[in-house]
Amino acid sequence: MKDLLTLKELSVDEIQSILDLALDCEKGKYDNFLKDEIIANCFFEPSTRTQYSFNTAELRLGMKPLSFNPAGSSLNKGESFYDTIKTFESFGISGIVIRDVHDRYYEDIRHLDFHILNAGDGAGDHPSQSLLDLLTIRKEYGKFEGLKIAIVGDISHSRVAHTNIEVMERLGMECFVSGPEEYREEGYNFIDFDKAVEEMDIIMLLRVQHERHKEKMKTSLEDYNRDYGLNMDRVNKMKDHAIIMHPAPFNRGVEINDDVVECDKSRIFTQITNGVLVRMAMLLVTVGGVKC
Ligand code: CP
Repeated sequence: MKDLLTLKELSVDEIQSILDLALDCEKGKYDNFLKDEIIANCFFEPSTRTQYSFNTAELRLGMKPLSFNPAGSSLNKGESFYDTIKTFESFGISGIVIRDVHDRYYEDIRHLDFHILNAGDGAGDHPSQSLLDLLTIRKEYGKFEGLKIAIVGDISHSRVAHTNIEVMERLGMECFVSGPEEYREEGYNFIDFDKAVEEMDIIMLLRVQHERHKEKMKTSLEDYNRDYGLNMDRVNKMKDHAIIMHPAPFNRGVEINDDVVECDKSRIFTQITNGVLVRMAMLLVTVGGVKC
């Protein structure tokens, strides 16, 4: 596979194979498999988890990563996004991991002669996040078919929601959304939050993505927390087997209360651990040419 840009371009079988490969990575099967391959991590938008998780995955595979610092680059002399990426291609490196604020930024660069892995494009796609969410769910339940998930919060600005709903429905999951009216989006099944808490197998919370808003949020933080915040009273109404997920970063006291972050039902840090494994798998099927 040359690039991994959006899960919409992968079949269900290919997605399951990448998850299988991630489980092989967990057993150490591919440690140092891509020894000395050079890869660049170019994040034009802030990131902690995705950026350093890719970096960890690359080191586990024995790769040599380059870290791009936009603030100290020639972007500040007016160099364009395209010319920056074309420069990295010209170094003769194996591939590049990119996050950018623009939806589908990759359309203008996908012809370039190296592997491109999308680490998030605007409000469009976040394939590595979705794969780590899927791995977390598969490890928890051993299946996708028939599971019910509610994704709660700022749906309209969320690449996590958009990517997950598309792929989860293809995998046979029943997807619902909840959250303030100002962040709802046509075409999704809306569910009342308190009903979702009682009925879902998975509650996935989202941060309000202020950095993508053109207008100030109408809902106060207090009202948000009262109506859509997950607190222990609500957690206690969840099904015994149900779990809580969040792509993070999270806002304590807004969409999730302090004591919920690391409660028994929370898989938030398990998701982060699984992130290294799926990113290793993504690098293997692209740069490594492993068949999926
Ligand atoms: N979940 C996620 O994408 O986190 P970062 O923005 O920190 O990478």
